[in-house]
Amino acid sequence: MKKLKSLVFYFINLMFCLSILFFGLQRASAKELNIYSYRSPALLEPFTKQYEKEFNVKFNILHAKKGLAQRLKLEGKNSPADIILTVDISRLSELADMDLVKQIDSKVINNNVPKHLRDINKKWISLSTRARIIGVSNKRVNKNDIRNIEDLANPKYKGKICTRIGSHSYNRALLASIVAHSGERKATAWAEGLVSNFARTPKGNDRAQAKAIFSGECDIVLMNTYYFALMKFNNKKPEQKKWAKATDVIFYNQGGRGQHINVSGGAIAKYSKNSEEAIKFLEWMTEPKAQKIYSEVNFEYPVNPKVNLSGKIMEWGTFKADNLPISKIAKNSKKAQMIIDKVGW
Ligand SMILES: [Fe+2]
Repeated sequence: MKKLKSLVFYFINLMFCLSILFFGLQRASAKELNIYSYRSPALLEPFTKQYEKEFNVKFNILHAKKGLAQRLKLEGKNSPADIILTVDISRLSELADMDLVKQIDSKVINNNVPKHLRDINKKWISLSTRARIIGVSNKRVNKNDIRNIEDLANPKYKGKICTRIGSHSYNRALLASIVAHSGERKATAWAEGLVSNFARTPKGNDRAQAKAIFSGECDIVLMNTYYFALMKFNNKKPEQKKWAKATDVIFYNQGGRGQHINVSGGAIAKYSKNSEEAIKFLEWMTEPKAQKIYSEVNFEYPVNPKVNLSGKIMEWGTFKADNLPISKIAKNSKKAQMIIDKVGW
């Protein structure tokens, strides 16, 4: 009898301990978010650290340079992903096209993010914008001579222009915006003109183009705004400061449709088990506090129009952005790639 009593006591104790363990784990997992990210750790950390501090949410982050959509597809219902963070519209639309994300219904987001920067089917949202500007040698080019992106096809710039390869998503998105505005025929003629003005075969990344301005190989280049800040304030690689110093920034099409922009953005994984918590995080990312981090740390522009521009990105002044719905860029991406192949960009 005594033995039975102690056995029962042992059993009750065991159940109690197990239930504590179970609920403890449940509570822990309810406050965890799994992010699949194309954004680099250094650019994502300022946000997750701040959010962790404020809301006691633990982040597990998988960083990748490519293949996240394929991974999500393979994982299917077993995927642990809650949130996907990407740069470039083509990657956001790829997630939607492959049916890997769920709809985001949020008044906060609708309030904070302008309509042209959200997916019409609510499958993704933009979190920041970046401008793909024209950079020119401040010694060899008068920056007032170039007003529009169309000017780069002018034969007077023969042998002066350098870019990275055309099929890079940044250039493809720029060309897709021209297709969306001016049609395929005019976009093709522009791309042909641009290519015939090249000083060299497209190569290198955006910063390599500024380096070529500094060395005198090129006079006019295409580049994303944040690279200027990354060069200009680069204390680890001070030689890059010289590349930025040799280059002037031109925001183009200011008298018309506005400067072409691209976005970084986010989506909720289709099989997220924490989608409520995930939406809360995306909502927070669109609020002024987080939006300021985009300009001050990442040198990108906030999507929330209520947030004033601040920090080092202000050095180049403000500009009128092209308000073309960002999804139209994704829609014209294939046509743009065909043109790139055709003209040999
Ligand atoms: Fe980049």
